[in-house]
Amino acid sequence: MIKEVKNNVLYFDGCNTVELAKKYGTPLYVYSESDIHARIRELKETFLDRYPGARVAYAGKAFLPLSMARIIRDEDICVDVVSGGELYTALKAGVPAEHIEFNGNNKLRNELEMAVESEIGRIIVDGLQEMNVIEEICRAKGKTARILIRITPNVKVSSHDYIVTGKKDSKFGIPQDDDILMPLIRQAIESPVLDFYGIHFHIGSQLFENEFHLEATQVALELVKKIKEKFGYDIREINVGGGFGATYTDEERKPYSYFLDPIMEKVTDYCGKNNLVKPAIAIEPGRSVVAEAGITLYTVGAIKEIPGVRKYVAVDGGMTDNIRPALYQAVYTGVVANRANEPKKDTYTICGKCCESGDIVIKDLKGAAPQTGDIFVVFSTGAYGYSMASNYNKNTIPGVVFVREGRDRLVVKAQSYEDMISREI
Ligand code: LLP
Repeated sequence: MIKEVKNNVLYFDGCNTVELAKKYGTPLYVYSESDIHARIRELKETFLDRYPGARVAYAGKAFLPLSMARIIRDEDICVDVVSGGELYTALKAGVPAEHIEFNGNNKLRNELEMAVESEIGRIIVDGLQEMNVIEEICRAKGKTARILIRITPNVKVSSHDYIVTGKKDSKFGIPQDDDILMPLIRQAIESPVLDFYGIHFHIGSQLFENEFHLEATQVALELVKKIKEKFGYDIREINVGGGFGATYTDEERKPYSYFLDPIMEKVTDYCGKNNLVKPAIAIEPGRSVVAEAGITLYTVGAIKEIPGVRKYVAVDGGMTDNIRPALYQAVYTGVVANRANEPKKDTYTICGKCCESGDIVIKDLKGAAPQTGDIFVVFSTGAYGYSMASNYNKNTIPGVVFVREGRDRLVVKAQSYEDMISREI
């Protein structure tokens, strides 16, 4: 149990959250290392250990301070990066280059140079222009690059529009159009500096049904077959992206096997029937690895009751440490950490401190009545919270603490005012 209540106080991975707030200040991101490791263990036991050649590249965009990159290194899994900054962080943390893959719809030349130079494991090519640049860089540096080609599988999924990426009208990937795709694939196969390794897709985020991944896998398999027929070339990997849902309030997270076993079965089946060399399967889970492992601690400030309308309970953070409610209407839940056992008699809206009406953290929550000075905990903030934090209104970015079985350690210092203006000339 990573969450438990003792003496009316919420404990997280064995640590008293009120004490953590006192020790480090608020707002504060707190991550359960036990939970992150448990998730990675699940990936190993149900996927990596069962399917030869399988690969897990944690999507660093969800949360990638050095400390998280070191967990990836120590767990000996891979990481998917989407910028020079994430690549730099992964390399700094000592993740082996072979364990890094690079995604993105507009990788900059200097980012690609860094990737080729450091000989990372895979570059996921998003278009012809990019592939030309990679070839040019490889020639200039006397290197080769292992690539996957990202397709848009044209699968519609049920998720928020902003986090759906695999549909036809998308800035990501290469459309299902033979006139575009086939010349590009021929070039990849024939290039002496490219090792054309596989096909990649990513269809969206926060999914709870496996049908979309399966549908897209079918599209990728048909392409594998076409490539074999047309060019006599064997594809060695299909990367099915991330998107596995996490629990925020009452959704039920599905085990990885729910998504992955049917994919593996489909691949085995299809390749057997069509006499194809079976490609290995790679995945890029981000949210599902870290969302539930993270919580945010706030201190309650101003409380405002508008009679007959709503009670606003303001906290010392908000959209600057968690943009997701404002950006995606994401729904969270939480409790007053120092009243965790009290009856939920009150209804209130937790709002942030930014000058923006949309800066709402949780709308119409039922819980124990908070008092100014109480500590409020928001659950499941581990993915895309810290990584999307901003300095809007010149609020500082909170620190990050890792907890594990009752022990705590600071892994990111809270930003100070001096830090915040240090680049301003
Ligand atoms: N691979 C690729 C190529 C992706 O574009 C993404 C997410 C992932 C993997 C990881 O997906 P996940 O397992 O985390 O669902 N900021 C948004 C999420 C954007 C996701 C973009 N791509 C949010 O806070 O909901």
